[in-house]
Amino acid sequence: MCGIVGIVGTEAAASRLVGSLKRLEYRGYDSAGVATLEGDEICRVRAEGRLAALADKLEKTSLKGTVGIGHTRWATHGAATEGNAHPHATDRVAVVHNGIIENFRPLREELVASGARFQSETDTEVVVHLIDRELQLGRDPVTAVERVLPRLEGAFSLAILFRGHDNLLIGARRGSPLAVGHGDGEMFLGSDAIALAPFTNRVTYLEDGDWVVLSHDDATIRDEAGQVIHRPQQLSQASALMVDKGNHRHFMAKEIHEQPEVVGHTLARYIDFTGETTKLPEDLPFDWTKLSRVVICACGTAYLAGLVAKYWFERYARLPVDIDIASEFRYREMPLDKGGLAIMISQSGETADTLAALRYCKGEGQTVASVVNVPESTIARESHVVFPTVAGPEIGVASTKAFTCQLTVLACLALAAGRARGVLSPDDEKTLVHALAEVPRLMAAALRVEPQIEALAKTLAKAPDALYLGRGTSYPLALEGALKLKEISYIHAEGYAAGELKHGPIALIDETMPVIVIAPHDQIFDKTVSNMQEVAARGGRIILITDAKGAEAATVDAAETIVMPSMPATVTPLVYALPIQLLAYHTAVFMGTDVDQPRNLAKSVTVE
Ligand code: F6R
Repeated sequence: MCGIVGIVGTEAAASRLVGSLKRLEYRGYDSAGVATLEGDEICRVRAEGRLAALADKLEKTSLKGTVGIGHTRWATHGAATEGNAHPHATDRVAVVHNGIIENFRPLREELVASGARFQSETDTEVVVHLIDRELQLGRDPVTAVERVLPRLEGAFSLAILFRGHDNLLIGARRGSPLAVGHGDGEMFLGSDAIALAPFTNRVTYLEDGDWVVLSHDDATIRDEAGQVIHRPQQLSQASALMVDKGNHRHFMAKEIHEQPEVVGHTLARYIDFTGETTKLPEDLPFDWTKLSRVVICACGTAYLAGLVAKYWFERYARLPVDIDIASEFRYREMPLDKGGLAIMISQSGETADTLAALRYCKGEGQTVASVVNVPESTIARESHVVFPTVAGPEIGVASTKAFTCQLTVLACLALAAGRARGVLSPDDEKTLVHALAEVPRLMAAALRVEPQIEALAKTLAKAPDALYLGRGTSYPLALEGALKLKEISYIHAEGYAAGELKHGPIALIDETMPVIVIAPHDQIFDKTVSNMQEVAARGGRIILITDAKGAEAATVDAAETIVMPSMPATVTPLVYALPIQLLAYHTAVFMGTDVDQPRNLAKSVTVE
């Protein structure tokens, strides 16, 4: 899941490519590179590590070419070295690639046998040599690409540059996203509209199987069968402005602190504050009353938002939910009754596994609704109905505000379903909507525990492992707390349903083990206290996140108690997410990790 960009332009391309790649760095940041046409030659500059390293290298060059391609990489095949960085090239052709060429091994063997000399360990390089071989046989670039594309298996998007052709770039899309940007006397390729925003807001999204031949003033799109096809041009809303960190040290900190505001914006879209009712579009392509169950698919943090929603849909709408990790669901061949509802949750809207789950559900006759943060994303475009989160761009790789905005949308959907199905009376709905409307205020209050958490993080940073426990909707939060801690601080952490502790994980408890217990004073609080007792009896170090009533009622000595404002049980996952995020954030800052771009990760996972 890399980011790719291409320019057939009228001014020097290298710095424009880097500017665009900066906006794509969320897709991967192991290494980066550009290739431009300098006179008749292809010139490549590549660097290991963050984009800044490439920008430094480029400053020492004098590239002037106006046609070029660029890439920011998240390594799949081959280590994150300069040698494996894109573009890959021969002296006739250069290629940048996002995705995986699944049949690269037999292709590589075939090419090596016919004399190709490989310079990298990547799957991408087979594309370069396949095209090069066609060119050597005297074929023109368009025919060469046309002959090579059917030989490639897997999901990919490509941008291809040819020696001696300063009015040509070819792009191809199968599985991974690719968009064409239409400028004035210039044409662009980019993984998304965000990459294209500095150049143009006129965008055409390629469909699966499409490939496109770009010149300065034309973009001819062909479908998989090679037929020229019209794809509509859209006006993109993606902003050309780069999002900054404001007064915060990291994007993650900014995004954590933005939550009262963005959750407020999201609520404003889905609830009517005056009538205290939920507010969904009237022309929904499904009927809540006719559903016998809902399927939810997502990955990572988005999956955990779905897991919270399962509790809400089942409790407030008496609607059973089958929830699955998208990468499992897509191959499970789950039987689905025609006319059902499937909900996909995704911040980026580009996650390959979630997209595949969406397509499976559509194929099985489901109505597909998606909860996405990027309205122009592939998942949004392929859904029957989109429920956008209004989180604004999320830059930190660890998801924070997108998670709570997903929860906000899902809570509103569950309440709307409950009302439509007659499970909730108008008064019940009013009470619950009122509780939701209070969330921004409660979040602002919850953020006041930050100094306490910052101090606590210094001790957590010394622990090699940590356990998170919770029951009910606090169980997905326990999973989320552990995920957040491990992804940005690299401390090994596990989340468990508190009741599961004695079925195995309790063996891990000793006096070195911090156990973070998420336990608002709700109906099942006493049960969680029993589990805390089991931890305390074995010397575990309890960090309790609760409210004032819980702090008073807990009969166990916690090493630290973090007190949240009191609130109705329905909204605790939204508010308790904040101390959990802050704990991971401050632990990582104390340990000196790269909080916004943690090792081995990428913001948008467009490979399976
Ligand atoms: C964790 C995190 C990931 C994403 C997951 C799904 O902090 O951000 O687990 O939640 O990769 O991504 P989206 O929501 O873009 O589909």
